[in-house]
Amino acid sequence: MRAKKIHISAILFFLCICFLWGCGKQQPAAKNKLYVGITYYDQSDTFLSQLNTCLREQFDQLENDDLEITIAVRDAAGSQRTQDDQVEELIDAGCNILFVNLVDRTDPSEIIDIAKENNVPIVFFNREPVAEDMMRWDELYYVGADAKQSGTMQGEMAVDAILANKRIDRNRDGIIQYVVLEGEPGHQDAIIRTESAVNTLKNNGIQLEKLGYGIANWNRAQAQNRMMQIIGQHQNEIELVLANNDDMALGAMDAYKKLNYTESALPVFFGIDGTDVGLQAVADSELTGTIYNDKEGQSAAMVKLAVALISGKGLEEIEFQNDRYIYLPYSKVTIDNVDDFMDRKKQ
Ligand code: GAL
Repeated sequence: MRAKKIHISAILFFLCICFLWGCGKQQPAAKNKLYVGITYYDQSDTFLSQLNTCLREQFDQLENDDLEITIAVRDAAGSQRTQDDQVEELIDAGCNILFVNLVDRTDPSEIIDIAKENNVPIVFFNREPVAEDMMRWDELYYVGADAKQSGTMQGEMAVDAILANKRIDRNRDGIIQYVVLEGEPGHQDAIIRTESAVNTLKNNGIQLEKLGYGIANWNRAQAQNRMMQIIGQHQNEIELVLANNDDMALGAMDAYKKLNYTESALPVFFGIDGTDVGLQAVADSELTGTIYNDKEGQSAAMVKLAVALISGKGLEEIEFQNDRYIYLPYSKVTIDNVDDFMDRKKQ
């Protein structure tokens, strides 16, 4: 009996060795396998859907014999609960890095806890968690852009346009009557963009009168609705529309078109992002300007960071601010240089 037990143990031991040997042979080393789980707050968002295309293109270019890349993309469709579940599911599926575009930038705790438990680093992007949350674990990173810079640049562009073209002040009262269209309340890119754009105009000596503002959650249709109401109250008094993004600037333009306003009664419109439709509107002189939100640069930084974190190589070459933040600069886009930005897509 005893001899039989020893015999069975020996066979089991032999089988285990064979199994482990086999695994070691067939599976590529873990550091060469990048399994990225990406979750978006809302995949219908114009800027983010274009950023997603950039990410995919860059991962495609990177794949080679030494690096196997798998990508899983999820849409949280505006629900933090859904996103928390998605992160859990992505980790269970074997993701070894997460790109998280938070729904609620003040509520990443569940996501951080589960990632930390499983030792899966997170690169947050575009929707910046508050600093205290970023301190909760040292494998948390952020890639995005400086909201203040985009607002300041938008303000500067508006100053230049107003000084160069006296007809923008259509009623010639020396004051620019303006409207602001804002993104989601609580988003770092909403309040800060508005404040810095308006302050830049004031600091450059432009007299302003605010006629109205609308929260349109980055959304073109919502901006159109909101703008129709504001136009209803102020008719052709509005001279300048500052929108926190291109889609809302275009929605404001849609409202004027729908109401059949003639060109001479239109305000000047400024957006931010340089989305495909935004750039086209600048090229068509419908938008006076936009600020390019560098989706190519942001996705390249995310990809580079992911590879460095997984391979353990190249992290020292990455330039971080405050240890774990990467901010890509914005650029001004007007009719004079819009072609350069449109060409980026073709490259
Ligand atoms: C901003 C961008 C908006 C929208 C938002 C979503 O940076 O300008 O268009 O995409 O992010 O978080």
